[in-house]
Amino acid sequence: MCGIVGYIGEEQATPVLINALKKLEYRGYDSAGIAVLGDEDLIIRKAKGALKFLEQKIATEIIQGTMGIGHTRWATHGEPSDVNSHPHTNVSGKIAIVHNGIIENHARLKSMLEEGGVTFKSQTDTEVVAHLIDFFYEGDLFQAVLEALKKIEGSYALAVISQDDPSRIIAVRKDSPLVIGKGEGENIIASDVPALLEYTREVYYLEDREIAVLYRDHVEFFDTEGKPVEKDTIRVEWDVASAEKGGYEHFMLKEIHEQPKALTDTLRARIKTYASKTIHLEEIGFDSSWAEAGRVIITACGTAWHAGIVGKYAFEHFARIPVDVDIASEYRYRDPLFNPKDIFIIISQSGETADTLAAMRMARKGGARIIAITNVVGSTLAREADLVMYTWAGPEIAVASTKAFTTQLMCVYLIALQFGSLRGVVNEEDLSRYIDALEAIPQQAERLLADKEAIQRFAAHQFNKTKAFFMGRLFDYAISLESALKLKEISYTHSEAFAAGELKHGPIALVDESTLVVAICTQEALFDKMDSNIKEVKARGATVLVITYEDVSYFDASADGIFRIPHTIDAFSPILSVIPSQLYAYYCSVQRGLDPDKPRNLAKSVTVE
Ligand code: F6R
Repeated sequence: MCGIVGYIGEEQATPVLINALKKLEYRGYDSAGIAVLGDEDLIIRKAKGALKFLEQKIATEIIQGTMGIGHTRWATHGEPSDVNSHPHTNVSGKIAIVHNGIIENHARLKSMLEEGGVTFKSQTDTEVVAHLIDFFYEGDLFQAVLEALKKIEGSYALAVISQDDPSRIIAVRKDSPLVIGKGEGENIIASDVPALLEYTREVYYLEDREIAVLYRDHVEFFDTEGKPVEKDTIRVEWDVASAEKGGYEHFMLKEIHEQPKALTDTLRARIKTYASKTIHLEEIGFDSSWAEAGRVIITACGTAWHAGIVGKYAFEHFARIPVDVDIASEYRYRDPLFNPKDIFIIISQSGETADTLAAMRMARKGGARIIAITNVVGSTLAREADLVMYTWAGPEIAVASTKAFTTQLMCVYLIALQFGSLRGVVNEEDLSRYIDALEAIPQQAERLLADKEAIQRFAAHQFNKTKAFFMGRLFDYAISLESALKLKEISYTHSEAFAAGELKHGPIALVDESTLVVAICTQEALFDKMDSNIKEVKARGATVLVITYEDVSYFDASADGIFRIPHTIDAFSPILSVIPSQLYAYYCSVQRGLDPDKPRNLAKSVTVE
């Protein structure tokens, strides 16, 4: 997820571009860059790191020009560096583009262009688009963009300018956001509305596969066939502060809502349909030799460790391979036994957690092979692991992890199923059925989120409870752990998780009228066991919220409240069943007057022990 901007008007473009990029920095801060069309030349400046480094770089320069494009990067293809920063250009340096998204067929296009003699400067997927436009350029930039669009696959918001076409910016989107601000004698594009608000409140929302051509005094719209499209502006009334969070009150709520899109991005390009649906992990370098492992060892911290617990159950179920799952801070100081035939899966949103990295290095030293699941391109974990599977969740700003977790789960399922398939445990027909179920999840998550007020109402009544226990069995136990962590870290409620079968071995002594028990019940074979546990805590005065499938009435009589989630295969339920808990934690935090985005004592990335 990157941020793109563009300006064409009477003012100097550079300050407008920098200012607009500042409003988009939450979208990525690996590098930033601008391209400004001066009287004669295209002037390009880029810098690795946060936008302030670009600002420092150009502080003493006067960059003349009243039209330009800009970019703030969240690296996907190619590590964060000056050379991989946008804008990217064609060979002559006359055409410049900025891009947000992923060009999925970039490798194929790159080979085709290289065969034609093009030399690439960066490792990005984006650069192919600049060369492709050049390839089709015969004096009309618009036509060249139309031709290039026919060739590219994936998601994109693009802005294109050319030294030979100094009166317009061409912009297009598919599956990545882009808005256009209509000003007086000036027009602006941006990935998100906050970047425009200082200049105008009249906004065109570009639809998928629509092209906008921005001139100084007007904007024209077309479809990808080049046919004109009529569009009206919408007046945006948002106040600037809330708009930076895309209209959400907090980043956490925004990120909870981004899960359907993030999950789609995680799956995209990893599923292929030939005779039947199959999983493709070649992009990460995964081949059948990995599935010959004798054992899988998963290590991680916090929320990522909970994803590891789901991973253990998933691997054992789908791939019939023994799995150990360990907290990285314990693992690194134990005297663990493993051998070079074992495979390590290291999970970390940031890819920088000190304990997690130490556990990885221990595995590396012992000769084991390592798969990293991480969200941050170019992170230490990504650089040091043998294989990297990115979660593609986009930047996670709120300290409490939400979309990174559910996308970690998606990655874990894909690897487990691939292991199962390669080891002959999962047959073709079952694999296809499992993939169908995974593909349905983003839409199911969307549906679940539409009902978030039910959780908000429940939180409004329960947020003052001093004790909250989460219980479940199998996959539901893993989600109980994650749910309890979410609630404690942002609402400061004392919350704990129990494997429901353990209740009678101690924890039930704590249950009284002041206790909220959240029972997660998605493992159908164990519904009767869970119902007994619910009755046991109810008999001791607890208030019970059940999270179960929408078509299950098993717990109607025993629960005080029920939150229903769409039905999926029981093993995949964690991706959906955790969402009500994320929302519950969020609403409790807000009810208590706290800032869910910045909980006390916590930091987003724990790079020290
Ligand atoms: C909780 C949370 C933390 C992280 C943990 C590991 O909401 O976010 O528990 O999961 O600090 O961080 P990463 O995944 O960056 O290694």
